[in-house]
Amino acid sequence: MATAELHTYPHRHLLGIEGLSADEITVLLDRSEEYVDQNRRVDKKQSLLRGRTQINLFFESSTRTRTSFELAGKRLGADVINMSAEASSIRKGETLIDTAMTLNAMHPDVLVVRHPHSGAVNLLAQKVDCAVINAGDGSHEHPTQALLDALTIRRRRGRLDGLIVAICGDILHSRVARSNIQLLITMGARVRVVAPPTLVSPLFERMGVAVHHDMGSGLDGVDIVMMLRLQTERMQGSYVPSVREYFHFFGLDYQKLAAAKPDALIMHPGPMNRGVEIDTDVADDIDRSVIREQVEMGVAVRMACLDVLTGHLSNDPPRKAAAAE
Ligand code: NCD
Repeated sequence: MATAELHTYPHRHLLGIEGLSADEITVLLDRSEEYVDQNRRVDKKQSLLRGRTQINLFFESSTRTRTSFELAGKRLGADVINMSAEASSIRKGETLIDTAMTLNAMHPDVLVVRHPHSGAVNLLAQKVDCAVINAGDGSHEHPTQALLDALTIRRRRGRLDGLIVAICGDILHSRVARSNIQLLITMGARVRVVAPPTLVSPLFERMGVAVHHDMGSGLDGVDIVMMLRLQTERMQGSYVPSVREYFHFFGLDYQKLAAAKPDALIMHPGPMNRGVEIDTDVADDIDRSVIREQVEMGVAVRMACLDVLTGHLSNDPPRKAAAAE
């Protein structure tokens, strides 16, 4: 695509959406499009990253993100190693920095890192020589999730610019919300967050979003409804009176969805808690829900990120898009 050839991704790492320009985001999305097609072929494998080593370092549990980063690396021909905190020397008291330095000494080309503390991945990136991709740090950022959400929306709606997106649920603890807000606003969408007052801070208004405490007004006329899980692992104390009451006021069911545009898309980054933030029929509605498509786009986006970051680090000029495939 023309945009991918005109612009580049000039950064060494992908630590967050904050700081990326609309052009840089477009480079990543355009490159991802190529991989969507490749992933639908019988033979999905390439040798673009042959000889490269990718280490997935996960200090927090993950299904989608870890699996799709592993698949993404393998489909590009990299050697992929998975490390989880439970099975490593972190359990023996090694610090994050020592772990990073140890892995760095093995000359990986890419480190994909998830960590429960906001800022931990940025810190680690300062200590290693390779490209670092943030796979989610605390409640701070989850850039590849925002990119895969954007790709899903762009493929369905043809654009991001001018769309109205409601992000609903536990905004306060959500790295998905923060990365999505940054990306969507940068790309010209209008964003609302919808949550009980305990699960959102007025500071979000400074990010340029409208804060709603009621699903009726929050979903009124929106193009996209993005639901989020209650991040109970990041909560100390009680943020909602009960799950039942939470679902009653903030769980997405057909009644609340009726306020959105008739063709509004339903999204969720997973893992879903059915009957808590989303009604099970709504989640599985094949006409409205793009939740499975989000997972598919996740692999393509992660391939694009690995491609762009390793291309930038090599001595070779970054590949030209599309035609070279
Ligand atoms: C999200 C995460 O880990 O931040 N999940 C994901 O990456 N698909 C959201 C969540 O855990 O609720």
